[in-house]
Amino acid sequence: MKKKTVLITGGAGYIGSHAAKEAERSGFTPVIFDNLSAGHKWAIQSGKFVKGDLADRAALVRVLRRYRPVAVMHFASHISVGESVVDPQKYYKDNLGNALNLFSAMLQEKVMYFVLSSTAAVYGDPIQVPIPEDHPKNPVNPYGDSKYILERILTSYDQAYGLKSTFLRYFNASGADASGKLGEAHAPETHLIPLVLDAVAGLRKEITVFGTDYPTPDGTCIRDYIHVTDLAAVHFLALKHMMKTGKSDFFNLGTGKGYSVKEVIDETERVTGLKVPVKYGLRRAGDPPRLVAESKKAQKVLGWKPKQSSLKTILATAWKWHQYFHSSAFSQKH
Ligand SMILES: NC(=O)c1ccc[n+]([C@@H]2O[C@H](COP(=O)([O-])OP(=O)(O)OC[C@H]3O[C@@H](n4cnc5c(N)ncnc54)[C@H](O)[C@@H]3O)[C@@H](O)[C@H]2O)c1
Repeated sequence: MKKKTVLITGGAGYIGSHAAKEAERSGFTPVIFDNLSAGHKWAIQSGKFVKGDLADRAALVRVLRRYRPVAVMHFASHISVGESVVDPQKYYKDNLGNALNLFSAMLQEKVMYFVLSSTAAVYGDPIQVPIPEDHPKNPVNPYGDSKYILERILTSYDQAYGLKSTFLRYFNASGADASGKLGEAHAPETHLIPLVLDAVAGLRKEITVFGTDYPTPDGTCIRDYIHVTDLAAVHFLALKHMMKTGKSDFFNLGTGKGYSVKEVIDETERVTGLKVPVKYGLRRAGDPPRLVAESKKAQKVLGWKPKQSSLKTILATAWKWHQYFHSSAFSQKH
């Protein structure tokens, strides 16, 4: 039987490139649509690649017509909370405008399944932790707000046009492909684990821990880290489930277990055998003390089991990737 095609926007980025790899393992053919503004050619290791911008509706129609995907998985967006606060226009205009273009091209070409990379940022400062999916949505920055608006747009598009969608609200995506040849490479990098690894490898002077007086056991912030390969796998479970039930749905994607910044640093030292240079600083505005997912729904409804999301595996795979990415073998190849 011919494999069904899935269009992956942002498939040259961190999570999208892992999803493209996972597509093949899950029995789909991935087609990647990316403008390479933040992604990398080397990260395209599976499927076909179409270079294009989501702002270009005609290009979207062309790619949908040519490859006839059964669904679109939408990873492409601006992703920095801090940047969204100083330049909200970029987030509302692009993250919403581009997605509206994509929905309109999908409706025209009758591609009726959609998977959204949403975020824990839709919940804002939690009033309940672990955070369940029905927790009030109160995003506190334009990045989270743009994702929450997209969720609401998609809910009306389902009611009005029958476009089915699944919102996957990621907690902290982390780790790297087991091959050690694919992983995270944001510029600028804002995520804790790659920054800690840069510090351990001597690529930055130190890692600054923002705040040691939070109401957590060791005083540092707690986050829920989910391995990018586990995260990628749920996208295909969710898509299959949506195609089977014909219903839209939404899921938290985290493990339900949180680790503090200090725990991440301690585990990094164990995994690498090296000392992490640390500087302790003041709290940063807008960091909730604890963000942990109530994660049972994805496990129960989709039968998802995180396999690689122990902190040790996350750090071991991220470290393997980090060493390769900064090696002469990588620079000679790319
Ligand atoms: N990384 C995380 O921990 C995390 C957490 C929650 C949600 N998310 C969401 O997951 C998605 C993927 O995140 P990521 O970390 O892989 O980001 P990334 O920056 O690595 O990947 C995004 C990709 O989208 C592409 N892109 C951006 N604008 C485009 C456009 N106009 N047209 C075509 N391609 C475009 C970029 O070139 C890049 O390859 C994002 O939607 C993000 O909001 C990520």
